Amino acid sequence: MTELRHDKFRIRHFVPDDLPALVRHAGNRNVWQTLRDDFPHPYTEEHAARWIAAAINATPRTHFAIEVNGETAGAIGYRIMPGGFSAEIGYWLGEDVWGQGIATAAVGLMVDHIFSRFNVPCVIANVYEFNNASIRVLQKTGFRLIGWQTATKAGKTVQQTIYSRGRGTRGNA
Ligand SMILES: CC(C)(COP(=O)(O)OP(=O)(O)OC[C@H]1O[C@@H](n2cnc3c(N)ncnc32)[C@H](O)[C@@H]1OP(=O)(O)O)[C@@H](O)C(=O)NCCC(=O)NCCS
Repeated sequence: MTELRHDKFRIRHFVPDDLPALVRHAGNRNVWQTLRDDFPHPYTEEHAARWIAAAINATPRTHFAIEVNGETAGAIGYRIMPGGFSAEIGYWLGEDVWGQGIATAAVGLMVDHIFSRFNVPCVIANVYEFNNASIRVLQKTGFRLIGWQTATKAGKTVQQTIYSRGRGTRGNA
Protein backbone atom coordinates (compact mmCIF):
# COMPACT_ATOMS: atom_id res chain seq x y z
CA MET A 1 0.00 0.00 0.00
CA THR A 2 1.34 3.45 -0.81
CA GLU A 3 -1.39 5.55 0.78
CA LEU A 4 -5.15 5.91 1.13
CA ARG A 5 -6.42 9.44 0.60
CA HIS A 6 -9.45 11.30 1.89
CA ASP A 7 -10.17 15.02 1.79
CA LYS A 8 -9.69 15.30 5.61
CA PHE A 9 -6.70 12.95 6.08
CA ARG A 10 -4.41 10.42 4.49
CA ILE A 11 -3.38 6.97 5.66
CA ARG A 12 0.32 6.48 4.94
CA HIS A 13 3.42 4.67 6.14
CA PHE A 14 5.01 5.86 9.37
CA VAL A 15 8.29 7.79 9.10
CA PRO A 16 10.81 8.49 11.90
CA ASP A 17 9.77 12.19 11.97
CA ASP A 18 6.32 11.13 13.24
CA LEU A 19 7.79 10.57 16.70
CA PRO A 20 6.92 13.88 18.47
CA ALA A 21 3.34 13.99 17.20
CA LEU A 22 2.88 10.31 18.03
CA VAL A 23 4.08 10.83 21.61
CA ARG A 24 1.77 13.84 22.05
CA HIS A 25 -1.40 12.23 20.70
CA ALA A 26 -0.82 8.71 22.03
CA GLY A 27 0.16 10.02 25.46
CA ASN A 28 -3.34 11.33 26.17
CA ARG A 29 -5.01 9.24 28.89
CA ASN A 30 -8.38 9.63 27.14
CA VAL A 31 -6.93 7.83 24.13
CA TRP A 32 -5.32 5.10 26.25
CA GLN A 33 -8.38 4.31 28.33
CA THR A 34 -10.31 2.58 25.54
CA LEU A 35 -7.29 0.82 24.01
CA ARG A 36 -6.02 -2.59 24.99
CA ASP A 37 -3.58 -3.09 27.84
CA ASP A 38 -0.63 -3.52 25.47
CA PHE A 39 -0.95 0.18 24.51
CA PRO A 40 1.47 1.85 26.96
CA HIS A 41 0.70 4.69 29.34
CA PRO A 42 2.59 6.95 29.91
CA TYR A 43 3.58 6.83 26.23
CA THR A 44 7.28 7.70 25.96
CA GLU A 45 9.60 8.57 23.07
CA GLU A 46 11.02 5.04 23.37
CA HIS A 47 7.55 3.55 22.89
CA ALA A 48 6.99 5.73 19.83
CA ALA A 49 10.41 4.92 18.35
CA ARG A 50 9.83 1.17 18.82
CA TRP A 51 6.34 1.41 17.29
CA ILE A 52 7.53 3.37 14.26
CA ALA A 53 10.50 1.03 13.66
CA ALA A 54 8.29 -2.06 13.92
CA ALA A 55 5.75 -0.56 11.50
CA ILE A 56 8.45 0.38 8.98
CA ASN A 57 10.30 -2.94 9.19
CA ALA A 58 7.29 -5.26 9.00
CA THR A 59 6.74 -7.32 5.85
CA PRO A 60 4.12 -6.70 4.70
CA ARG A 61 3.53 -3.36 6.41
CA THR A 62 0.20 -3.51 8.22
CA HIS A 63 0.24 -0.52 10.60
CA PHE A 64 -0.13 3.00 9.24
CA ALA A 65 -0.22 6.63 10.33
CA ILE A 66 -3.39 8.70 9.98
CA GLU A 67 -2.12 12.12 8.94
CA VAL A 68 -4.42 15.10 9.58
CA ASN A 69 -3.45 18.68 8.71
CA GLY A 70 0.08 17.59 7.83
CA GLU A 71 0.92 15.66 11.02
CA THR A 72 0.38 12.18 12.37
CA ALA A 73 -2.74 12.29 14.53
CA GLY A 74 -3.44 8.58 14.94
CA ALA A 75 -2.88 5.08 13.67
CA ILE A 76 -4.77 2.29 11.95
CA GLY A 77 -3.73 -1.24 11.14
CA TYR A 78 -4.66 -4.88 10.95
CA ARG A 79 -3.37 -8.36 11.43
CA ILE A 80 -4.30 -11.43 9.48
CA MET A 81 -5.39 -14.05 11.99
CA PRO A 82 -3.87 -17.56 11.92
CA GLY A 83 -5.31 -19.63 9.09
CA GLY A 84 -6.45 -16.52 7.25
CA PHE A 85 -9.99 -16.89 8.67
CA SER A 86 -10.27 -13.17 9.45
CA ALA A 87 -8.37 -9.92 9.69
CA GLU A 88 -8.52 -7.92 12.91
CA ILE A 89 -8.56 -4.14 12.58
CA GLY A 90 -7.45 -1.61 15.21
CA TYR A 91 -7.32 2.20 15.23
CA TRP A 92 -7.04 5.30 17.38
CA LEU A 93 -7.03 9.06 16.87
CA GLY A 94 -5.72 11.97 18.90
CA GLU A 95 -8.46 13.69 20.91
CA ASP A 96 -7.90 17.00 19.05
CA VAL A 97 -9.41 15.49 15.91
CA TRP A 98 -12.25 13.41 17.34
CA GLY A 99 -15.80 14.00 16.14
CA GLN A 100 -15.02 14.91 12.51
CA GLY A 101 -15.89 11.58 10.94
CA ILE A 102 -12.22 10.73 10.43
CA ALA A 103 -12.27 7.29 12.08
CA THR A 104 -15.42 6.29 10.21
CA ALA A 105 -13.87 7.22 6.87
CA ALA A 106 -10.49 5.67 7.77
CA VAL A 107 -12.02 2.35 8.87
CA GLY A 108 -14.10 2.24 5.69
CA LEU A 109 -11.02 2.79 3.52
CA MET A 110 -8.93 0.26 5.44
CA VAL A 111 -11.60 -2.46 5.31
CA ASP A 112 -11.84 -2.00 1.52
CA HIS A 113 -8.05 -2.21 1.34
CA ILE A 114 -7.93 -5.42 3.41
CA PHE A 115 -10.61 -7.13 1.29
CA SER A 116 -8.87 -6.07 -1.92
CA ARG A 117 -5.50 -7.38 -0.76
CA PHE A 118 -6.29 -10.54 1.26
CA ASN A 119 -8.73 -13.35 0.66
CA VAL A 120 -10.19 -13.17 4.16
CA PRO A 121 -13.96 -13.71 4.58
CA CYS A 122 -14.40 -11.06 7.27
CA VAL A 123 -12.77 -8.22 9.19
CA ILE A 124 -13.32 -8.21 12.94
CA ALA A 125 -12.83 -5.62 15.69
CA ASN A 126 -12.67 -6.15 19.45
CA VAL A 127 -14.07 -3.15 21.33
CA TYR A 128 -14.68 -2.59 25.03
CA GLU A 129 -18.42 -2.48 25.60
CA PHE A 130 -18.07 1.00 27.14
CA ASN A 131 -16.41 2.44 24.00
CA ASN A 132 -19.55 3.91 22.48
CA ALA A 133 -17.73 6.12 19.96
CA SER A 134 -15.86 3.17 18.47
CA ILE A 135 -18.96 0.98 18.44
CA ARG A 136 -20.72 3.76 16.52
CA VAL A 137 -17.81 3.91 14.05
CA LEU A 138 -18.12 0.17 13.45
CA GLN A 139 -21.90 0.31 13.08
CA LYS A 140 -21.56 3.11 10.51
CA THR A 141 -18.99 1.15 8.53
CA GLY A 142 -21.15 -1.96 8.20
CA PHE A 143 -19.92 -4.09 11.13
CA ARG A 144 -22.35 -6.23 13.10
CA LEU A 145 -22.13 -7.43 16.70
CA ILE A 146 -21.28 -11.13 16.76
CA GLY A 147 -20.32 -11.74 20.38
CA TRP A 148 -18.63 -10.83 23.63
CA GLN A 149 -15.52 -11.91 25.47
CA THR A 150 -13.98 -11.12 28.82
CA ALA A 151 -10.78 -9.09 28.90
CA THR A 152 -8.73 -7.12 31.40
CA LYS A 153 -8.04 -3.40 31.25
CA ALA A 154 -5.77 -1.76 33.82
CA GLY A 155 -6.27 -4.67 36.20
CA LYS A 156 -10.07 -4.70 35.93
CA THR A 157 -12.21 -7.39 34.29
CA VAL A 158 -14.23 -5.85 31.47
CA GLN A 159 -16.45 -7.03 28.63
CA GLN A 160 -15.27 -6.70 25.08
CA THR A 161 -17.68 -6.77 22.16
CA ILE A 162 -16.70 -8.52 18.94
CA TYR A 163 -17.84 -6.88 15.71
CA SER A 164 -17.51 -8.37 12.23
CA ARG A 165 -18.00 -7.21 8.67
CA GLY A 166 -18.22 -9.85 5.98
CA ARG A 167 -16.76 -9.59 2.52
CA GLY A 168 -19.34 -8.16 0.14
CA THR A 169 -21.22 -6.20 2.81
CA ARG A 170 -21.23 -2.40 2.80
CA GLY A 171 -20.97 0.47 5.26
CA ASN A 172 -23.81 2.84 6.11
CA ALA A 173 -21.72 6.04 6.35
C1 LIG B 1 -13.10 5.80 18.75
C2 LIG B 1 -12.44 6.88 17.92
C3 LIG B 1 -11.45 6.24 16.97
C4 LIG B 1 -13.54 7.60 17.13
O1 LIG B 1 -12.91 8.55 16.26
P1 LIG B 1 -13.71 9.77 15.58
O2 LIG B 1 -12.96 10.21 14.39
O3 LIG B 1 -14.05 10.77 16.62
O4 LIG B 1 -15.04 9.01 15.12
P2 LIG B 1 -16.12 9.58 14.07
O5 LIG B 1 -16.17 11.06 14.18
O6 LIG B 1 -15.87 8.97 12.74
O7 LIG B 1 -17.48 8.93 14.62
C5 LIG B 1 -17.75 8.90 16.00
C6 LIG B 1 -19.21 8.56 16.21
O8 LIG B 1 -19.40 8.22 17.58
C7 LIG B 1 -20.30 9.09 18.18
N1 LIG B 1 -19.86 9.25 19.56
C8 LIG B 1 -18.79 9.91 20.02
N2 LIG B 1 -18.74 9.80 21.35
C9 LIG B 1 -19.79 9.03 21.71
C10 LIG B 1 -20.29 8.56 22.95
N3 LIG B 1 -19.65 8.82 24.10
N4 LIG B 1 -21.41 7.80 22.94
C11 LIG B 1 -22.04 7.50 21.79
N5 LIG B 1 -21.60 7.92 20.56
C12 LIG B 1 -20.51 8.67 20.56
C13 LIG B 1 -20.24 10.35 17.35
O9 LIG B 1 -21.40 11.14 17.53
C14 LIG B 1 -20.12 9.75 15.95
O10 LIG B 1 -21.35 9.21 15.50
P3 LIG B 1 -22.34 10.04 14.52
O11 LIG B 1 -21.55 10.35 13.27
O12 LIG B 1 -23.44 9.10 14.28
O13 LIG B 1 -22.75 11.28 15.25
C15 LIG B 1 -11.71 7.91 18.82
O14 LIG B 1 -12.63 8.39 19.77
C16 LIG B 1 -10.52 7.32 19.54
O15 LIG B 1 -9.46 7.22 18.97
N6 LIG B 1 -10.70 6.91 20.82
C17 LIG B 1 -9.60 6.39 21.62
C18 LIG B 1 -9.00 5.09 21.07
C19 LIG B 1 -10.05 4.06 20.71
O16 LIG B 1 -11.04 3.87 21.43
N7 LIG B 1 -9.84 3.37 19.58
C20 LIG B 1 -10.73 2.32 19.14
C21 LIG B 1 -10.44 1.07 19.89
S1 LIG B 1 -11.59 -0.22 19.43
